[in-house]
Amino acid sequence: MMRRIILKNYSSKYYWKNKTVLITGINGFIGSNLSKLLLSLGAKIIGVANERRKNSLLEYYGIKKDINLHYLDLSDYKKLQSIIKKYKIHSCIHLAAQVDVNIASVNPFLTFESNIRGTYNLLELLRHQKSIKSIIVASSDKAYGHYDIKDLPYKEDYDLRAKYPYDVSKASGDMIAKSYASDMFKMPIMITRFTNIYGPGQLNFTALIPDCILSCYNYRRFIPRSNGMNKRDFLYVEDVCDLYLCLSYNLAKDNSLRGEVFNAGTGSGYKVKDIVKKICIISKNPKNYQSILPRFKNKKSFGEIKNQFMTFDKINKYFKWTPKYSIDDGLNKTITWYTDFLKKYNYKSFLSKELK
Ligand SMILES: NC(=O)c1ccc[n+]([C@@H]2O[C@H](COP(=O)([O-])OP(=O)(O)OC[C@H]3O[C@@H](n4cnc5c(N)ncnc54)[C@H](O)[C@@H]3O)[C@@H](O)[C@H]2O)c1
Repeated sequence: MMRRIILKNYSSKYYWKNKTVLITGINGFIGSNLSKLLLSLGAKIIGVANERRKNSLLEYYGIKKDINLHYLDLSDYKKLQSIIKKYKIHSCIHLAAQVDVNIASVNPFLTFESNIRGTYNLLELLRHQKSIKSIIVASSDKAYGHYDIKDLPYKEDYDLRAKYPYDVSKASGDMIAKSYASDMFKMPIMITRFTNIYGPGQLNFTALIPDCILSCYNYRRFIPRSNGMNKRDFLYVEDVCDLYLCLSYNLAKDNSLRGEVFNAGTGSGYKVKDIVKKICIISKNPKNYQSILPRFKNKKSFGEIKNQFMTFDKINKYFKWTPKYSIDDGLNKTITWYTDFLKKYNYKSFLSKELK
């Protein structure tokens, strides 16, 4: 690897102040947390999302008014073009995706439209933006598909073996991004393939961690999707937002980074069962774990990759980046956040509340 100067000012106001940043998927879990961070650094945020979320974290954080928010579907080229033409975008973080694997398994078309067409529409339009210095495309560990546990953790140079619809949609967007970054177009694009992300504001209650936390507070019954022995890795959302700043900054300063792919995870695979146990203990409801345990028995998973975990070795090698949160620290902060959140909002009424 060539010697690289490590640029560390990536999270300073000095760099981000007044920079125009386009965030797609702005009212989602990661988009909301990232926009909060970027606003605190003085960036001007343009946001795109396809629906007025009833349970948007932008509302909860009170930052919706500070964002130029556009509701449109990325698969609609003309509408997207009319928005992108309006701005001189400096950086883009492309997070928008149909991420629900259950929806993907019954409606692959919708998932492909959002995640594949949405990605090439966006990149094609950004190709004509002279001002753009960095584009980060969020792919996923799911793009790698199944590898035997002896070959894990995944490495960035592994072939993409996605098979199920959501996984294929992410692998396709990933390859399209690589093509736009290639010698042919030389666009300043990096691709991230992060592991499962968790933390404050994850309001997709079908995801393992929020689902299990809600069951500890008796809001819902936790139904395992596997026998609990599958291994998964988890990254805390604050670490992820920090990484997006780090990658955007370094790419803008060094165009030779275009086309690079970066994994990030903790390097440890945790059995789903062990994560559930940790959550029940931190939430002070160990009885919940005892009642969930028999539900794992003989449970067969469907449409899920068996084991997935990855390191942050390459990011560390390039930028000396390390995550700040261990799984225990991250879970503690997350559970504290949900405790406050659930106190302020009754979960069921919050979801049905009409927020505009
Ligand atoms: N959350 C994780 O564990 C995780 C892990 C690895 C990668 N990722 C990737 O990170 C990104 C963000 O994930 P998240 O957890 O914040 O998801 P999320 O579901 O909370 O947010 C998705 C956002 O995308 C928007 N969106 C969806 N389809 C759209 C379309 N067709 N047009 C415009 N907007 C559309 C939604 O309105 C929403 O704002 C996704 O690309 C996902 O694949 C997430």
